[in-house]
Parts: sequence; C-alpha cells; structure tokens
Amino acid sequence: MTSTAAISPLNSELAAKKETMHCPVMVPEVLDGLSLRPGGVYVDATLGLGGHTEAILLKCPEIKMVLGLDCDTEALEQAESRLSPFGDRVRFIHSNFIHLHDVLLFNRIGRVDGILMDLGISTFHLENSRRGFSFSRNEPLDMRMDPSGAVTAADMVNKLPLKRLTELIQTYGGERWAKRIAKRIYDRRKTAPILNSTELAEVVANSIPRKYHPRRIHPATRTFQALRIAVNREMDNLKEALDSLPSCLRPEGRVCIISFHSLEDRLVKIAFREDNRLQPLTKKPLVPSPEEMRSNPRARSAKLRIAQYIEPGETQFKLI
Ligand SMILES: C[S@@+](CC[C@H](N)C(=O)[O-])C[C@H]1O[C@@H](n2cnc3c(N)ncnc32)[C@H](O)[C@@H]1O
Repeated sequence: MTSTAAISPLNSELAAKKETMHCPVMVPEVLDGLSLRPGGVYVDATLGLGGHTEAILLKCPEIKMVLGLDCDTEALEQAESRLSPFGDRVRFIHSNFIHLHDVLLFNRIGRVDGILMDLGISTFHLENSRRGFSFSRNEPLDMRMDPSGAVTAADMVNKLPLKRLTELIQTYGGERWAKRIAKRIYDRRKTAPILNSTELAEVVANSIPRKYHPRRIHPATRTFQALRIAVNREMDNLKEALDSLPSCLRPEGRVCIISFHSLEDRLVKIAFREDNRLQPLTKKPLVPSPEEMRSNPRARSAKLRIAQYIEPGETQFKLI
C-alpha cells in the first residue's frame, strides 16, 4: 500500500476523460445510509473517480476525513484532481480493500464511523483505461483493475485448461453457452493466441447460434464479466473484506455496499445475516429510483445493503 501524494494531474487527458465521467450511483441512499456526523472519519474503499466521496464531503463539510482507497493508480490520480478542493480532508491510498484493517492501523486511525464499498469497475475502466474491459473497443486483453496484478485476461483466455475456462464463464458470467464458448476459444488459440478485446468478442459471438444472441446485451457481455471477475479475484476479495469489516468500525459505525450482480449481493447478504456484529439495516437491498435507472443505465443492476456494527454483547434492535 502506498500513498499517491506526488502524482501529477494529467490535465489535457483529464479534460477528455471528463466526457465519459463515471456517474456515482444511489448517492442520496448512500449519504443517508452512512449517517454522516460532524467530526467523523469515513472510508471510501472503492474511491474510483471520487464521486461518492465528493458527495459525502459536500453533504457534511464538518467531516474530519475521508480515506479513499483504490487498487487502480490511474483512478486515484483522477480522484486526487477532482477532490483537491477538499485539501487534506481526503487521503488517497493505493491499496486493495482487503488490506483495510492494516491501512487504518498504518494511518493511525483505528476504527471509523462508516465504510462505503461501490463494487466493480467504473465508466473510466470501460471507456478510457485501454485495458480491454469493453467488447466494443479494440484494446489489449488485460482487464486488471490494478495494473500490477499478476494475471491478465489474455493469460486466462490463452492458458487456462478447457474445463477451468468453462467453469469460470459459467460461474461468474451465468452464461448458458459457456461450454461452446470455452471450446471455441480453446480451438482458436491453438492457431494463434487471442490478444485483444475485439478478437475475443468475435470468437464469443460466433460460438453462440445467431438465433440465441441476447436481444438487449452484446453476446460477449457475460464472458467479459466472468473474465473481469476472475482476473481481479473479485469474489475472494469481497469475502475477505467482509470478514474484516467489523474490526474496522466503531460501535454503530455504518457500512454501505453497492453490488452489481447477484453473486456479490449474495455474499453481502450472507455476511450481514451470519456475522452478529453486523446488524443489517435493510431487510431487502435498496435499488435505485426509476429516475436514476432512466438517467444512468449503469445504475440498473445496483443493489445497496446497509449494516451497522454492534459491539459484541450489545442488544440489536429492529429497523426498517
Ligand atoms: C464502481 S467504481 C467506484 C466509483 C466511485 N464510487 C465514484 O463515485 O467515482 C469501483 C472502484 O473500485 C476499485 N476497486 C475494485 N475492487 C477493488 C479492491 N478490491 N480494492 C480496492 N479498489 C477496488 C476499482 O478500481 C474502481 O475504481
């Protein structure tokens, strides 16, 4: 984990990137869920381009500090530029959120009043990162959120055994054509490795019979999602982070987690149900308003769960 204090702003690039700025989802619900208090210390464990953190600091200017973590240094650079008006009330940390407990110790913070996790990738990753997250761009097949990660999507596509590739596309993509897709990839890579996103999108699209192509999404959507989840170990990271949350929160401290697919939401739901130090404050996950879903298509699959840390031995009370 390292601080990014010395990063220079990429002015002209940033201006171009603003056109495809990430729009933070469910902002009013998150601000409410965190129950912001003056003097409080909060963690944005998935800082991204800083949209939620900006909203937090605007809503409650008396907050002492927001610690912003991201595993992607490029995202941190952009957040740092956007959040510069807030001065040293925001700290930028390059770290995977699985290390949150250590990050808090290292920064002499201890426990905090609230933690936000807005999972997955941002619009920046799809539109501007040049890392092959999107099937509609011809880019190197990388898909690492943290560019120092060990394995790329190209490694997986070209090296995984057929059985493992099939399982991965099935499990993380929920793709009913996983077997055919994996076999087509496997056959294709015998002639030449698949190295970019357009090539992979074509191979996937060609392995699904045309009459079964989904109508609303690109036929490669699920396979790309599966690879991204696997490359970034998203499920393992989330599980590990969920285990560490109680040790990072003050009594009555809040955690808000926004997930974008059912596998993630299931992990959050189970953690909130089974860890008696985390009291869920929402019976069902909150979803975006119809207006938000209309204006921000990425919000459509968002689900927000909120919980509160209860000191062992304290009585839980029923909410919403
Ligand atoms: C959906 S975006 C967050 C967007 C942000 N809330 C905003 O308003 O701009 C998720 C961010 O979390 C980061 N991320 C994903 N998994 C992470 C992990 N395990 N540790 C740290 N950062 C992670 C990604 O790099 C990405 O920038």
